[in-house]
Amino acid sequence: MDPIQILMEEHAILNMALDGTDRYVAAMRRGGACDAAFVRRMLVLMRGFASACHQRKEEQALYPVLVEFQGPGVREAVETLAGEHADVRDLLRILEEDLDEAEKGESGCVQAMTETLSAYSSLMRAHLAREERMVYPLVRRLPGRRQDEIIRRFANIEEDMPKGSHETYYQIARDLAGDLHGADN
Ligand SMILES: [Fe+2]
Ligand SMILES: [Fe+2]
Repeated sequence: MDPIQILMEEHAILNMALDGTDRYVAAMRRGGACDAAFVRRMLVLMRGFASACHQRKEEQALYPVLVEFQGPGVREAVETLAGEHADVRDLLRILEEDLDEAEKGESGCVQAMTETLSAYSSLMRAHLAREERMVYPLVRRLPGRRQDEIIRRFANIEEDMPKGSHETYYQIARDLAGDLHGADN
C-alpha cells in the first residue's frame, strides 16, 4: 500500500457519496420532497470521514511532508488546498443549521439546503480533481522512506478513529449511491 493508493480509495468513497448528493440536488430542483434523513447521513459521512479522517490525513501527514521535501514552491499550492478544506467545512456548518431547521418542520430552509449541498459537491469535486492532478505527481517523486513516513502518520491518525468507523462510513457512502440507483429505477 502506498500513500496514493490510500488517498485514491478514499477519494473514490467521497465521489460515490457526491454522486448520490448530486442526484438528490437534481431531484430537489425538479420539485422533489425534502429527505432530511438523506442529508443527515451525508453530513455524518462528510464530517466524520471527509473532514475528520481524510482531510486531517492530508493536512497533518501529507502536506507537511510535501512542503518539507519539495520546498517552499509547494507551500502555496498546499495552502490553497487546505483553504478549500476550510471552505467545505464552513459549508457543512451552514448545511447543519439548515438541516436542524428542516428536521423541526421548517420548510423555508429546504431550498437553501439544496443550494448548500450543490455548492459543497461542486467544491469537493473540484478539490479532489485538483489534488489528483497536482499532489499525486509530487507524492510519486518522494523517496520511498518519505512515502513510508506518510503511511506511518496516516496510521497514527487512523488510531484516533473509532473502531469500525470506516466500515460504517463506507456503508453510508454506498447507501447514498444506492439511493441514487434506486432513483434511476
Ligand atoms: Fe483534500
Ligand atoms: Fe483528498
